[in-house]
Amino acid sequence: MIKQLVLLLIACAPIQLVHAQMSRIDKRVDSVLKLMTLEEKVGQMNQYNGDWAATGPITQDGDKQNQIRKGMVGSMLNVTGVDHTRTLQQVAMQSRLKIPLLFGQDVIHGYRTTFPIPLAEAASWDITAIELSARIAAIEASAAGIHWTFAPMVDISRDPRWGRVMEGAGEDPYLGSIIAKARVNGFQGKGFGHTDAVMACVKHFAAYGAAVGGRDYNSVDMSMRTLYELYLPPFKAALDAGAATFMNSFNDLNGIPATGNTFLQRDLLKNKWKFTGFIVSDWGSVGEMINHGYATDNAHAAVLAANAGSDMDMESRSYIQHLARMVKGGKVKMSVIDDAVRRILKKKFEMGLFDDPFKFCNEAREKEQWNNPAHLLAARDMAKKSIVLLKNESPLGKGAGVSLLPINKQTKTIAVIGPFAKGVKDNLGFWSYDWADDTARIKTLWTGIQNKLSSGSKMIYAKGCGIADTSRAGFQEAIDAANNADIVIVSVGEARNMSGEAKSRSSIQLPGVQEELIKALMATGKPVVVLISAGRPLIFNWTADHVPAILYTWWLGTEAGNAIADVLFGDYNPSGKLPMSFPRTEGQIPIFYNYYNTGRPAKNENDQNYVSAYIDLPNSPKFPFGYGLSYTSFEYGQLQFNKTSLKGKEPLKVSVTVTNSGTYAGEEVVQLYSRDMVGSVVRPVKELKGFQKIFLQAGESKTISFVITTNDLRFYNNELKFDWEAGEFEIMIGGNSKDVKSAKVNWVK
Ligand code: NOJ
Repeated sequence: MIKQLVLLLIACAPIQLVHAQMSRIDKRVDSVLKLMTLEEKVGQMNQYNGDWAATGPITQDGDKQNQIRKGMVGSMLNVTGVDHTRTLQQVAMQSRLKIPLLFGQDVIHGYRTTFPIPLAEAASWDITAIELSARIAAIEASAAGIHWTFAPMVDISRDPRWGRVMEGAGEDPYLGSIIAKARVNGFQGKGFGHTDAVMACVKHFAAYGAAVGGRDYNSVDMSMRTLYELYLPPFKAALDAGAATFMNSFNDLNGIPATGNTFLQRDLLKNKWKFTGFIVSDWGSVGEMINHGYATDNAHAAVLAANAGSDMDMESRSYIQHLARMVKGGKVKMSVIDDAVRRILKKKFEMGLFDDPFKFCNEAREKEQWNNPAHLLAARDMAKKSIVLLKNESPLGKGAGVSLLPINKQTKTIAVIGPFAKGVKDNLGFWSYDWADDTARIKTLWTGIQNKLSSGSKMIYAKGCGIADTSRAGFQEAIDAANNADIVIVSVGEARNMSGEAKSRSSIQLPGVQEELIKALMATGKPVVVLISAGRPLIFNWTADHVPAILYTWWLGTEAGNAIADVLFGDYNPSGKLPMSFPRTEGQIPIFYNYYNTGRPAKNENDQNYVSAYIDLPNSPKFPFGYGLSYTSFEYGQLQFNKTSLKGKEPLKVSVTVTNSGTYAGEEVVQLYSRDMVGSVVRPVKELKGFQKIFLQAGESKTISFVITTNDLRFYNNELKFDWEAGEFEIMIGGNSKDVKSAKVNWVK
């Protein structure tokens, strides 16, 4: 008995320790709070931009330093580097209460080493690799003095016109939730107090991805059911993973700007979900409530935002200029201010900054991580796993011979054409940093291919055209290069500033004359491989229909060229699967795989007879969610169930045998979808409920099993109750959301 008790005590020790530490922090927070004036409290709720320049003054606005000295600033963003952060922290140490500053930065897909954009990483469906990517970003950023990253962005989006889809994990709440958790774990590492852990900031709360028309900063109008079922799950997953902070968003949700939204921030996040961290506004979003037509002026905006639960004002200056007065005038309760400041101070304590404000200021560490070769290896691994093989046929036509990819390393002459062939910084994509030595460090497609080829091989370069060019002047040189080559690789796409914040596009076709260039090269009769670099799903129908081999290469970061070459030459067998549906035309947007069946579903792609269809194109996307090929092929057997009639909490075990029926070893993402056939509210035709990424040698078979319980079948009913309903369920398994094997089970309460 005693032995058991001792064991129990030992098992509980870490939990008790954490609790003791937490209450110790709470006490310390209270002891600081007691010393603070109202103005100092509001100062903690104020965040400024650093306007830093590596060789110039740290803040262009000299007064910011004075304000820090007066305790009027709680956090700075965009001040990086040990040197700069130390200088500003020293200024904070001259303030009356010596409360340390928090340094935040948009470390979205790497810091020093740029990893693939988050949407590309999502295409890997490789959760371990995604977590490692975030971990490395945190190691590099924290070594440069950063405490806090404004990531992960977990906005679900069904609209590829929205430029910010590049920052998220795509259209699916299940995949998005798993990735959100992995990213939080990666950023926050072993926990605060470790000098390589940075605070995550889950954004943008909430529903920003549903901006009307895909236009950035636009309004969102959606049902509560849709909000809960599709848009909130990744936020909840990130919260459950322990995310330290949240950022609200620019959009209004059903008429209330997110920044002033009490339901989102206070009722849901802080009260119902019991979030103990703090919420930062998006840049200027407190003041933007005036433009929304929700606040009369900045003072009013400060009142609305603070009362709704926005704890920190990023750069709108509404709090610092008006909040203290509003408290004195009775518009905001002191308890609201105290709660916000407590949340902020608590994180500063947890990060260990009160004990040592300079703990992230270590030049030796900064130097060591600046060129850590292990990070480049991880970036290359992540990048090759993010590439999606969209098509791979023989140049003679489908089924007419050997597929074009992978390319033989002994090929005599390879023409490498297109604006990305020697492109450098466009590989990095939006939300990446320009470091002085980038040009030497970034692996271009050209160098990646060069590194693969034997000495007997030759490469010919022609740009052909620029990304957004309207001129065909470079075509002839490209055609000549193609005519002199055995194989042609054309690299096209979007420039790094064509997707991202404020980068919505009404047309998402390949920009400029790039598709014309592809046509001209195809006309040479040479075998052509097209690589598409972009931050979103693009439309390239002619290319998709005529070019034998296409790789979607997103924006892959520092190691882009090496990773693409690994795939082109078969050193890595592509395994990526699309995290968003690729439309045929913009007219299909919003487009997503988990739609409702409607009362008049089309019987097939050609059915237009008074059914829910277009008269000028099929409903289906060009490439469906979850789609991606391999150099090998996978065959799926029939689904096997432990039972087809289930009751209550009984688990359903479903198995399928997957066989690598081709000649290459390779990975496959086995995806499980379900459909609730009849519900008290209509249910989607498919919902992703599980996936496993497996590796199979050529000829190998594996039986893969999933366990489904009624927890997985829950949804929000009309009363917003989250529960499952008895009835028939279709279970589907396949290598993408379209091609699945399926069977039905019956489940009673
Ligand atoms: C605005 C963006 O919406 C947000 O995601 C970002 O973190 C802030 N600017 C800070 O750069």
